[in-house]
Amino acid sequence: MSYKKQDAMEQFENWSRGYDRSILQRLLFGPSHARLAQELPVAQPVRVLDVGCGTGQFLERLLCEGRAAQVWGLDLCGGMVRQGASRLRRFNGSAHVVQADGEAIPFRDNTFDVVTCSNCFHHFPNQERAVEEMYRVLKPAGRLMIIDGYRDGLWGRFIYDFCVVTVEGPVKHASARRFRELFARAGFVDVWQEAKLGLAPFILTVGVACKPMAGRVEPEPTEQSHWSPPLRQAA
Ligand SMILES: C[S@@+](CC[C@H](N)C(=O)[O-])C[C@H]1O[C@@H](n2cnc3c(N)ncnc32)[C@H](O)[C@@H]1O
Repeated sequence: MSYKKQDAMEQFENWSRGYDRSILQRLLFGPSHARLAQELPVAQPVRVLDVGCGTGQFLERLLCEGRAAQVWGLDLCGGMVRQGASRLRRFNGSAHVVQADGEAIPFRDNTFDVVTCSNCFHHFPNQERAVEEMYRVLKPAGRLMIIDGYRDGLWGRFIYDFCVVTVEGPVKHASARRFRELFARAGFVDVWQEAKLGLAPFILTVGVACKPMAGRVEPEPTEQSHWSPPLRQAA
């Protein structure tokens, strides 16, 4: 049995209202966001895309801490996008949220300085395609940072390959090695990783997009069907 995007949409549609109150916020999501944010130095005017942004908590943190100048959030699930849009409304003009598939990102090539993806990667049925898309929308020398449950080791396998799969269905947490392979195959260099052990272990993988320099590109949507209005136009 394989995991389908429809499964993710249904699961997160149901979860979107209570998501911010989940125990996982303290165990996994909060600590992983804190670690990820450290990789974005304060006061650098970067343009960030967060793939699988959920309710927008990570992007809110980046803006509040001055770690990004402009942020875009992308999520498959309409409920998550609505929660995210509502949370980020006060940053009008600096924050945008769109409903889209991370395996078909509706932005032009070479658009973002940084692409992040937290606690979402195991939901992609085609993980190779997702990393290729993230590479495509990054500017030359832009950075990709993916953080997700660390399933290497006995505890990691129990938590992620058994417990999470029992609850969420056949999602796939990538091993550290698999992440390195995916990054290298897509064209990332200077790849490094850091694992954080504990009750809910997670792994951060960072790589630099190695591609020819291009002209300046504004983050406009392409003509793909998943595009929805940016935050500033939301009701
Ligand atoms: C566990 S939540 C993580 C949300 C957020 N990044 C965080 O760390 O709190 C996983 C998110 O991935 C989204 N998602 C799942 N499959 C996706 C896909 N193919 N494209 C974009 N988002 C997806 C879900 O809707 C959900 O919001």
